Amino acid sequence: MKESQPSTIYLKDYKVPPFLIDKTELTFDLDEATTIVTSRLHMRRNPACGKSTVPLTLDGGEGVKLIGLAMDDYTLPPEEYRISENKLIITATADQFVLTCETLIEPQNNTSLEGLYRSSSMFCTQCEAEGFRHITYYLDRPDVMSVFTTTIIADADRYPVMLSNGNEVERGKTEEGKTFVVWNDPFPKPAYLFALVAGDLAVKNDIFTTQNKRDVKLQIFTETHNIDKVDYAMEALKRSMRWDEEAYGREYDLDIFMIVAVDDFNMGAMENKGLNIFNSSCLLASPETTTDDSYLRVEAIVAHEYFHNWSGNRVTCRDWFQLSLKEGFTVFRDQTFSADMHSETVKRVEDVSFLRTAQFAEDAGPMAHPVRPASFIEISNFYTLTVYEKGAEIVRMIHTLLGAEKFRAGSDLYFERHDGQAVTCDDFVSAMEDASGVDLTQFKRWYSQAGTPVVSVTDEFDAASGTYRLTMKQETPVTPNQPTKLALHIPVRVGLLDQSGNELSATLDGTTAEDHVLHLTSSEQVFEFSGVTARPIPSLLRGFSAPVKLHYDYTPANLLLLMSSDSDGFNRWSSAQQLAVNELQALIGQAIAGETLSIDSQLIDGFKALIGDCNLDPAMVALILTLPSQAYLSELANPIYPAAIKQARHYLKTQLANALSGEFESLYTNNKSQGVYQANAEDIACRSLKNLALSYWVETDSEAAQQAVVQQFEFANNMTDQFSALSIAVHSQHEKAADMLAVFYDQWKNEPLVVNKWLMLSAGQESDDALIIVKGLMEHPAFDLKNPNKVRSVLGGFGQNMAAFHKEDGSGYRFLADQIILLNKRNPQIASRLCTPLTRWKKMQPELSEKMKSELERILAEDLSKDVYEVISKCLA
Ligand code: PHE
Ligand code: ZN
Repeated sequence: MKESQPSTIYLKDYKVPPFLIDKTELTFDLDEATTIVTSRLHMRRNPACGKSTVPLTLDGGEGVKLIGLAMDDYTLPPEEYRISENKLIITATADQFVLTCETLIEPQNNTSLEGLYRSSSMFCTQCEAEGFRHITYYLDRPDVMSVFTTTIIADADRYPVMLSNGNEVERGKTEEGKTFVVWNDPFPKPAYLFALVAGDLAVKNDIFTTQNKRDVKLQIFTETHNIDKVDYAMEALKRSMRWDEEAYGREYDLDIFMIVAVDDFNMGAMENKGLNIFNSSCLLASPETTTDDSYLRVEAIVAHEYFHNWSGNRVTCRDWFQLSLKEGFTVFRDQTFSADMHSETVKRVEDVSFLRTAQFAEDAGPMAHPVRPASFIEISNFYTLTVYEKGAEIVRMIHTLLGAEKFRAGSDLYFERHDGQAVTCDDFVSAMEDASGVDLTQFKRWYSQAGTPVVSVTDEFDAASGTYRLTMKQETPVTPNQPTKLALHIPVRVGLLDQSGNELSATLDGTTAEDHVLHLTSSEQVFEFSGVTARPIPSLLRGFSAPVKLHYDYTPANLLLLMSSDSDGFNRWSSAQQLAVNELQALIGQAIAGETLSIDSQLIDGFKALIGDCNLDPAMVALILTLPSQAYLSELANPIYPAAIKQARHYLKTQLANALSGEFESLYTNNKSQGVYQANAEDIACRSLKNLALSYWVETDSEAAQQAVVQQFEFANNMTDQFSALSIAVHSQHEKAADMLAVFYDQWKNEPLVVNKWLMLSAGQESDDALIIVKGLMEHPAFDLKNPNKVRSVLGGFGQNMAAFHKEDGSGYRFLADQIILLNKRNPQIASRLCTPLTRWKKMQPELSEKMKSELERILAEDLSKDVYEVISKCLA
């Protein structure tokens, strides 16, 4: 352990920057071993600070070596500045001056993938959140916005493509015969949006004509061998640009928009102004190598990064506590975009399913934090599901409370009012209030209060007067540093069904409708509907109108009715999930008690009716037929018995498969035909239903099903079908599974993104020697500890391997802890993310909980990066 622990930074301590940087001129003399960066910062004291004499303190980072410092033309001698704890402090400064600073950095030794680093044969940067300080000394905070001019000098034979933000303004030769290129970005931006790329790259060009008839040049760059996989991303980009004009009135502002794919990247992608940098896994797509899920992900992420041009870049964050200002809003925007491109209900189900599984788990654990956190040790740890996904739910609730038209007026006002500024979540809400007249004072508590609220509902019906009363209680559980919770403003969308499943219209507060948004604002509240002709079944929280856990004591018959008849597609799915959860929880109880599992599943009839209903979107059928995941069941459980969860889910799946084997077989055969692959909603739906059916059918002892898996694996003309067949074989312990895995690797060993999928599936195999397999994968030539995608594939796949990861002897936990320690210094961000499965230790069954805890303690005893220290110390607090 370190002598002194890293310090905590608080939102309440925010102060405006004492200095501003009007212009930033950068020169990079690129070299793999030592790159020299020269910056000329046109600085002045911030008038908002009044007359001040505070010294100038610039942020720097480990690995940055200062080799020259001058103020205007005066070279500063060492006694006029000092460097301490990565800060460069200059005591005496004028009110206005140009600071010239020369630093030396080592891109090829940069394994953290923050700042300037090498990926394959290229140079690239990652500056969000605090990466720029790993390049040069700077005021590395988002409220310091500057106009950047960047000169890149490199050997043009090896680095013919040299890119930075904005427009290329000059190009030529240096005296030594190297090439230089100058880029200028006219839009002031914080340093986290800076980017530079240099490499021998191939490009795909296109043009987008904006609503005002301006032509924008679009370019996607990749390594040469990947350029045939960018067509889909290019089309997605153009759809995004058009959509933002239509849905939000936002037009692109520069004359050129570039995207570069890199293999080594800590996150999904980055919205650098005019020069987005993508993890290649989130950009490249081809039918043979990419699954449907990944296609949709590429489209969503291209859109997300593009949308940041307004929600993030033109209007940015004042400080990192406001991260959700750009991320929550932009996720909401990309979710709506994807819904518009495909199916709104399917998209909503997928998003909610993810939120309820992963964000709810985060909200219930030791790292729980508000959407606008009040403090952090390392900001990289706060790129979380809470900030992103729950943040998007907050924006969605504002949309529900205001209605589409006023929401748009609010967003127009927000962009108009704050263009070119660095602002706060409060500013966003104020714009929404001012444009709509809706009071969001209480609603704003969603930003500051952590934890998932629980809403409990009971009801009463009085036939004589035709009144139906819903009583709702809300309670938010205690989370770290938040012992008491206030009542939130929760919009609960509700409809009523009669006993045959017809929508009932009812009157609430003078409004008669089939669908009402209830405003739950107190800890307990009664809503009284009149004009109700028969005892209704309530359809609660339609469309998942708020990120809460809702409890109402439905009978299985009620749930079946909602599942077959609710006009709200989301609740049809949600009711089926609830029914399955209830049955699975009963089975889990039996498994924990060591009883023989047995159930008379109500889902059988429900599924049968569903499969027979040809009016339904096949994608919805597939979603409804999908049993709650082990991860979701774990989130709901306390304590978590992993083996019982696995056993129960497998048991129910087999029961359903046997009872409906004929249905699943024909569902499979009827959807089997494969035409030319297309990633459109209709075809994706067909494939998902077919593969879901196969995953059930194979659980029966049908020889035909076993053969179908092998056939599909061998003859599929697209990765979705091939990989589905392979996964089904692996997870059903098909006798050919091992052979198929070997064939698959051999077939795709030259396609790294496919190999990553293979690594993940291999690491997830539930066999007795899973840990040996995983250790073998880390020695495999396809593995590379420097590449986050590969680490995530193997260790992520292992983390989901319920049997091996949670093995009673603790060997799974020990192994993961070893890897965290190994990566702690090399790549702190990745190491910190690997800790997630261990953060659940308090919820595990007692024997496992102890084992997890001792691994956490073992990690804490190491000399830790800030990233890992924060997570582990909070876990053990
Ligand atoms: N800002 C990026 C996004 O959400 C995510 C990111 C954060 C990427 C930090 C890299 C580093 O679009
Ligand atoms: Zn984002």
